[in-house]
Amino acid sequence: MKKTSPISVCLFPAAGYGTRFLPVTKAMPKEMLPVLTKPLIQYGVEEAMDAGMNTMAIVTGRGKRAIEDHFDVSYELEHQIKGTSKEKMLADIRHIIDKCTFSYTRQIEMKGLGHAILTGETLIGNQPFAVILADDLCVNESDGVLSQMVELYKKYQCSIVAIEEIDPSQTDKYGVIAGEEIESGIYRVTNMVEKPSPQDAPTNLAIIGRYILTPDIFDIIRTTKPGKGGEIQITDALLEQAKAGKVIAYKFHGKRYDCGSIDGYVQATIELYQKGVL
Ligand code: UTP
Repeated sequence: MKKTSPISVCLFPAAGYGTRFLPVTKAMPKEMLPVLTKPLIQYGVEEAMDAGMNTMAIVTGRGKRAIEDHFDVSYELEHQIKGTSKEKMLADIRHIIDKCTFSYTRQIEMKGLGHAILTGETLIGNQPFAVILADDLCVNESDGVLSQMVELYKKYQCSIVAIEEIDPSQTDKYGVIAGEEIESGIYRVTNMVEKPSPQDAPTNLAIIGRYILTPDIFDIIRTTKPGKGGEIQITDALLEQAKAGKVIAYKFHGKRYDCGSIDGYVQATIELYQKGVL
């Protein structure tokens, strides 16, 4: 662990079907799509480790076994490449496996992100936790997005969502917040709407796939009715905390690639390659 963190667990909701990537996601989890030589979820796990977390709680579903295999040792493979120039290619993943504990639970029905997070309660218990949606790949020259959010959590001790300014025509793809700017780029959230049409959106500040949540969110989700798309939305549950002044929105430093879409995925692949990440 690089840093001490008040948050030790990171939850990865990874049960979705990834229909935008069919047919590749028919038998392979979207979270295992590679950007260069690493699957998306490994970038997320590395970001969580850099933020001081060592317990990775993963909500999976049918057809997601490759995630478990990825975060497990492959003795045959290690034996096969031992002493060759390829040995170093497994060094990062081996380091992750040695330093972190992985636990899994299955979401039986895809009832939305809020429901997926509630499914993770059994792995988390009564403690604040981080959430990473692995298909939002975030990069930054210095501290990762989750590290930045942990620093903010130390100060505000409440739920935090990462936000970015989006093109106003795109609001119907995101949870959108409104709030009072209390520090530069930091808002106390007063309203949140899931996927509003551009004319109904309170702002163009969109929530991306990084959260820190306080554990009272579980009881709130339990009583949250299905919202947009008939799914239990984390945005609706967070609105309850926001009404009590308990949600901060943070304009993070860095760049996010929406790797849940083909365009974002291709862009991430090209730009990381150009940066010489390999
Ligand atoms: P998305 O809606 O982006 O993912 O959910 P999806 O449904 O897998 O993708 P498409 O739209 O069909 O291509 C955001 C995140 O929430 C998880 C997904 O795995 C993804 O990481 N999720 C969503 C769940 O784990 N369970 C759900 O019921 C819904």
